[in-house]
Amino acid sequence: MSQVDRILIIGANGFIGHHLSKRLVTDSNFRVTAIDLKSDRLRDILGHDNFEFKQGDILDNDGWISREVEQSDVVIPLVAIASPLMYIKQPLKVFELDFEANLPIVRECVSQNKHLIFPSTSEVYGMSSDLEFDPLTTNLVTGPIQMQRWIYSTCKQLMDRIIYAYGESENLNYTLFRPFNWFGPGLDSIDTPREGGSRVVTNFIGSILRGEEIKLVNGGSQRRAFTYIDDGIDALVQIIEKRHKSANRQIFNIGNPVNDYSISHLAHLILELSLEHPLLKDRASRVNIISEDQSIFYGAGYQDVMSRNPKILNTSDLLNWQPKVGLRDGLKLTLDHYAQGEGL
Ligand code: UGA
Repeated sequence: MSQVDRILIIGANGFIGHHLSKRLVTDSNFRVTAIDLKSDRLRDILGHDNFEFKQGDILDNDGWISREVEQSDVVIPLVAIASPLMYIKQPLKVFELDFEANLPIVRECVSQNKHLIFPSTSEVYGMSSDLEFDPLTTNLVTGPIQMQRWIYSTCKQLMDRIIYAYGESENLNYTLFRPFNWFGPGLDSIDTPREGGSRVVTNFIGSILRGEEIKLVNGGSQRRAFTYIDDGIDALVQIIEKRHKSANRQIFNIGNPVNDYSISHLAHLILELSLEHPLLKDRASRVNIISEDQSIFYGAGYQDVMSRNPKILNTSDLLNWQPKVGLRDGLKLTLDHYAQGEGL
């Protein structure tokens, strides 16, 4: 097997991208070329021997994507809009960025015979009633067209199907991974001006930092399996290392079934931990948890997923991987980060 020397990460300054870049640069032999509009979250590794940052916009592809793919062994395109409010408010932007702008990168991997590691999503399973979502057997269940929440899910699903088809008909080597509610330092900016503009963990922490109410959509009985970012990154490193063997042409759920909790439980735990935190306790003492109807919180076009739990049997077996970080420990690390004003 040839030694990987160059991993191309497009969208390297994002949540997954900056954690993955740092891990690869500090803890592996891989060389990383990182592309993004900005590099502020990569500042710790700028200048590292195994790391190169280049400014690039996938919406402005004048041929740079082809040139960068040519010089790479593995391509990981991470640019995407991933906040539910945006699916409803800006559905065409989601299509243009998550699907349309990523398709040329997929096609470059096909024509240049490069291994593609592409982020699918837990959202593809939609409102399936399966107790565990299985990449091989679970039906993908979305709502009617006017429920614009599903544009992200269906863009990702179509890309999954295209990548699979390229694997079958044109021998593309690929790995699809589906993060299940990854959280951790740097998930989103807590300064996102409108509530709901970021994902739930950062939304709740943002409410505490601003001393505002935490809002549970429809009472918060809906459940998610929260996955700490370090566990997710461990799995991605295994995928890169095993891409010629057990990780090739696979679809992996990357989630932590043990951390399956309701959103209401999440809110109470974040508030409890904030009340114990020296930098947060004053602001947390002013925060109440309230319920808000989805029609007010998100507006029309929103449908929720009531339960989302990953089956991770193939991920564990083929990657020799298990998630380790419990929700409480992961939230403590995340709160420390935001309390110190990092990643705003
Ligand atoms: C997320 C996003 O679509 C993506 O980040 C991603 O692809 C995927 O799921 C994932 O991370 O696995 P969702 O889990 O619905 O979707 O997004 P969140 O914004 O994190 O919301 C989780 C739940 O909390 C939803 O039921 C939502 O209604 C609720 N919520 C959210 C609140 O009760 N209050 C809030 O302030 C925000």
